[in-house]
Amino acid sequence: MTMGPVPSTDSKETKLEELDALELRPVPRLHLQHAARCAQQAPSPWNTQPWLLRIGERSLEVWADRSRNLKLADPHQRELTIACGAAAQHAAVALERLGWKVEVDYLPEFRTPDCLARITLIARKSAGIESRELYSALWRRHTQRGAYPRTDLCGHVGEALKVAALREGTLPEFFGDERRARLSELVEAGMLVQGRNSELRRERLEWIGRAAGRPADGIAARELGLACVPQSLMPFLLGTEWGIRKRARREAELVREAPCVLLLSSTHEEPAEWLRAGAALGRVLLVATAAGLVASFHDAAIEVPHLRHAVRQLAGNAAFPQVLLRLGYGTPAEGAGRRELSEICFDETSSQCNRGGVPCPLVL
Ligand SMILES: Cc1cc2nc3c(=O)[nH]c(=O)nc-3n(C[C@H](O)[C@H](O)[C@H](O)COP(=O)(O)O)c2cc1C
Repeated sequence: MTMGPVPSTDSKETKLEELDALELRPVPRLHLQHAARCAQQAPSPWNTQPWLLRIGERSLEVWADRSRNLKLADPHQRELTIACGAAAQHAAVALERLGWKVEVDYLPEFRTPDCLARITLIARKSAGIESRELYSALWRRHTQRGAYPRTDLCGHVGEALKVAALREGTLPEFFGDERRARLSELVEAGMLVQGRNSELRRERLEWIGRAAGRPADGIAARELGLACVPQSLMPFLLGTEWGIRKRARREAELVREAPCVLLLSSTHEEPAEWLRAGAALGRVLLVATAAGLVASFHDAAIEVPHLRHAVRQLAGNAAFPQVLLRLGYGTPAEGAGRRELSEICFDETSSQCNRGGVPCPLVL
């Protein structure tokens, strides 16, 4: 193994400059492992974390773990793909912060549709202010489902959110007061349709149940404001018409009263566009967090096909709605846990990796 000079620890800046001079050395695996850890912090529907991460010589890949898909809520795996796009965005932000210029390819292998994104290290490049801010936001961001004070967003923040979405090829649409009432009706209708579907409720209960046994997986009852409800009573509570209506009304009110509601849409309805929408979602949420905002998702109206069509008409463009966000100033929530990286990350550069096709978990 070639020994190079050991970078000094005087300052981060010196360290990065010295690392630049060592470009021919193998890429530090620690950087790629750290990027995997950051990818894992991305949002996902019901905290399913539907990804596998694979570390190569100079790249990190995000693979779909389709066994963790919500088959009823997300039959086409649109949201699963969006979540993986957000994970890829997180990894790219982390690597830029670590001083890398990266290239992100979506669906890089035509014959391997489960390989959704590859983030390749191209060259050393010192981290700019933006990547520092976004990286630090990545560890603070969490879905905040409570009400937000009606403080208007500063104009430049709205502009920054727009730029973040457009940069990833996704269309941002802010809903002002005049269209908000109709939008909140659609959200309420979506919550009612989904709440009354007993199969869908069962699917969700499974993911609430996982978090009860293991806080790192699925969504905890406290995240949904149901902390004091025993697991055994959950099916009953979620299934009563009274409970369904109450939650639907509350969700509609949150959307109606929010300081800002942002819809992200794609120009086409296909996996590559869903990945871009996910990347846009990841970046928008990090930009928002860096600006002191919190956010939550209100996708019931997008998950029910005829309501999604109505949202599209309301947005007034020909694009396909992908994610509906509510944003405002507030305190970030504690957030959902994450599984151990060793369960989901595979290192093909490691001698421990089984190259026969079934990779074994990376020991970190
Ligand atoms: C595509 C997508 C759709 C989501 N839809 C909803 C939703 O409708 N309601 C909700 O409360 N959270 C929704 N979420 C947020 C997840 O529940 C949340 O990201 C996950 O529990 C992890 O928690 P964290 O965001 O606090 O890290 C969605 C996330 C993604 C990526």
